[in-house]
Amino acid sequence: MRLSPLFAAVALILGTTAVAHADDAPAPSRVIVRAAHLVDVQTGTVRDNPLVVIEGERITEVRYDGQVPAGASVIDLGGATLMPGLIDCHVHLTGDPGEVKGDYYEAILKRSSIDSAILSPTYAKRTLDAGFTTVRNLGAGDYVDVALRNAINRGDIPGPRMLVSGPPLGATGGHADGTTGFSPWIEFHDVEGVADGVDAIRHRVRENVKNGADVIKFMASAGVLSAEASVGAPQYSQEEMNAIVNESHRWGKKVAAHAHGAEAIKMAIRAGVDSIEHSSMIDEEGLKLAKQHGTYLDFDVYNDDYILSEYSKKGFPASTLEKERLVGRTQRENFQHAVKAGEKLAFGTDAGVYPHGWNGKQFALMTKWGMTPMQSIQAATVNSADLLGMKDKVGAVAPGYYADLVAVSGDPIKDISQMEHVAFVMKGGVVDKNEFKR
Ligand code: ARG
Repeated sequence: MRLSPLFAAVALILGTTAVAHADDAPAPSRVIVRAAHLVDVQTGTVRDNPLVVIEGERITEVRYDGQVPAGASVIDLGGATLMPGLIDCHVHLTGDPGEVKGDYYEAILKRSSIDSAILSPTYAKRTLDAGFTTVRNLGAGDYVDVALRNAINRGDIPGPRMLVSGPPLGATGGHADGTTGFSPWIEFHDVEGVADGVDAIRHRVRENVKNGADVIKFMASAGVLSAEASVGAPQYSQEEMNAIVNESHRWGKKVAAHAHGAEAIKMAIRAGVDSIEHSSMIDEEGLKLAKQHGTYLDFDVYNDDYILSEYSKKGFPASTLEKERLVGRTQRENFQHAVKAGEKLAFGTDAGVYPHGWNGKQFALMTKWGMTPMQSIQAATVNSADLLGMKDKVGAVAPGYYADLVAVSGDPIKDISQMEHVAFVMKGGVVDKNEFKR
């Protein structure tokens, strides 16, 4: 569809009128959320008897004096522990392993992006219910992620705040090329995201930005759940990675690089990416480089358990499981090295490879492999908010922040598995679920 200049002018005028009317909206009402404890991620302490004052979608005050301001309605969570809404920097809300039941080719050959679009609101809701009020969706076909984000932002459907990438960039035959391994005589309608060479790459970045991407995702290395032989070899040249980062940053977009292999990780960091996803085989030099460049590292350390126990039942080839065995344990050991080295660590799970709503299972793995419970919660709040460029909006319970709050009934600092049972979720001042309500 083409839009005429006249249509654009009319839309502009209508848009202006709508903004003028917003001033007449009634003053937002005041809500208080009270609980026994609050995990204060900004100071790394737990504080008692918090009262969080909310007006509209924002927090206006956090007080500890027990004084409930007049004219406020109170949501009393009793003995619960409050914390900021959680953030997952690596999800794929357009798919779920539950869709693959023994036939590996079902999802690839018999479903389209329309199937994904139909199912994705369900996955968005599961994610929100698990306490994840903000997510970064790193890779989706046909801009289904853009449509999902927009529907959530309009209030049409419930779901987390989303930053989305659209189709991830990758080399022909690489981790983003879903047609690898098929007969060359089969013609695929569109291999989205596949781009080779600097010019094609710049074009692809611009196209993603034009179509609504908030962030650019690319495949710096090979991967597990794709048909190429390697799991970690670089799949773009240094020149190509430099072009992706340079072009994306020029358009004001951050860059997330999928990278398992040590060399690809270093190339991506040198290119100037904002985060490395998976980070599995990062070596000493890579850890040093990440620190020098201020690059965030995401380690999806729960994933291995699920892939090894479920993916052969789902009909995935033995070669995939073999590749997973090459990275799984090493990734956890390297996560531990990264914690010890004091790297910038965000929280990214790759949910969608395992079931949505299970995002919280990663906290236990992160503490098993070197973090304190507080550090793991900080990774999923303040650190991730910083990586997303939203550190003054989400990831903390403080005045001016969105009223994104979650609560668990026990003490997550003593028992991190509490993070798998989030019982209260509020996003932007709206209660999504409250199991404490009697
Ligand atoms: N999407 C990733 C890939 O296919 C999943 C890797 C999961 N494995 C892991 N140990 N984290 O490469």
